[in-house]
Amino acid sequence: MHTGRLAILGALHEEIADLLAAMDPGAVIHRVAMRDFHVGTLWGTPCVIALSRIGKVAAAATASIVIQEFQASRVIFTGLAGGLHPDVAVGDVVVASALMQHDMDARPLFPQHEIPLLGREDFAADPVLSARLLDSARQFASGHAGLPAGQGARRPKVHHGLIATGDVFVNDNDYAHRLRQRLPEALCLEMEGGAMAQVCYEFGVPFAVLRVISDQADHAAKTDFTDFLVNLARVYTAGVLAPLLQSGAFRQA
Ligand code: ADE
Repeated sequence: MHTGRLAILGALHEEIADLLAAMDPGAVIHRVAMRDFHVGTLWGTPCVIALSRIGKVAAAATASIVIQEFQASRVIFTGLAGGLHPDVAVGDVVVASALMQHDMDARPLFPQHEIPLLGREDFAADPVLSARLLDSARQFASGHAGLPAGQGARRPKVHHGLIATGDVFVNDNDYAHRLRQRLPEALCLEMEGGAMAQVCYEFGVPFAVLRVISDQADHAAKTDFTDFLVNLARVYTAGVLAPLLQSGAFRQA
């Protein structure tokens, strides 16, 4: 049985807005290291919810704080990602099986992508947390008709696999192409998950990552990402997480 809190983190306000709005009125905001940590209950589950801001350092700092200051016993990171793998389309959902840092490169001291002195290049997400996210994402996708006209109408697919993290917003076909060649297994890319994963690994805290594909990391990524963020991000995040928390799945192990 877990006695600590469930931490839910997002890099941008729109990605966690509906969850914050749904917290019980007794939630208390603690400000630490220029961030607000909302501590309270969400559908009966003791939670701490925080906006990390964008990037690996921001995500690592936020993960450390929820673990050390707010006794988070599990961490979920949620938000948008750029699609990399050819099977992954805008509107799809990706639950991480593992995360790696595509911009980690300490060659020739260590192999490319290896986290120096940890001796590993990826961090496995918790299988139980991830299975629950996958179930809920599949339920959400089956009841979701697809994106509004103009953005493709196919029902969202749910994928489980490798997520690549780096301090780069990829808005460039050539960069995305090189990443696809170097990391053929990576389903999508984002800017926080692999850093949060490393911190959770170091603390021995189980974690999971839920991402919704907003763009294809190509020349149109900025526009596609912004449209998705404004119009759809909150629908997905709350659509997958609300039924899961309401079911009581996170109240105990
Ligand atoms: N998150 C969403 N889209 C992204 C992209 N194209 N690059 C990096 N992170 C992202």
